[in-house]
Amino acid sequence: LDLAGELDEFEKLSEIDEELLAKYSKVSFLNENYVPSDIEKIDRDYILEGKDDQFFHADAMRYLERMFDAAERDDIDLKIISAYRSFDEQNQLKGQHTQIYGEGANAFSADQGFSEHQLGTTLDITTPTVGGTYDSFGDTEAFAWLQENAYKYGFILSYPEGNTFYVYEPWHWRFVGRDLARHLDRDKDETFYTMDQREIDKYLLE
Ligand code: DAL
Ligand code: ZN
Repeated sequence: LDLAGELDEFEKLSEIDEELLAKYSKVSFLNENYVPSDIEKIDRDYILEGKDDQFFHADAMRYLERMFDAAERDDIDLKIISAYRSFDEQNQLKGQHTQIYGEGANAFSADQGFSEHQLGTTLDITTPTVGGTYDSFGDTEAFAWLQENAYKYGFILSYPEGNTFYVYEPWHWRFVGRDLARHLDRDKDETFYTMDQREIDKYLLE
């Protein structure tokens, strides 16, 4: 019996990197030197066709894979648009959005240093019928499946409807570990960003 193997690996990991459960939406700042302790290339099967290779935190990869495989067994086709983004990549992306949308870009695009994508634990997810535009993902069965099931694999929706940071982002899912995700699933009035950081941090060292 391998009890250690049954422990949530992410909790152990979080002991090493307290950034992984910090709030990165206009609250905390990750400097340009922050890179996840270990990132791995995501299997192409999980990536939307036509998109570049994507990377994810190596210690959380198996939760990603389990979630995507479970969805497939339920005939739900989840595909990744974007995962890890470095400080520089986020800077470039925000620059492009700002050129097109001006200040309006602040409603949906984080400044460099403030994106959860820099943690390596965040995914933008779509389904092939919707594709890479993000539009209307919130109306799909794939999204409904995530709302029902993502917590079992440790993922949460960072920006639900009515959040005070960005527009509603049904595609944007962050891995926070199964215990915290379960807690947030049970308490429908609470979200990651309405939780006190000290409460969140209790999930770091359990
Ligand atoms: N779209 C989210 C807010 C980001 O840029 O990290
Ligand atoms: Zn995102």
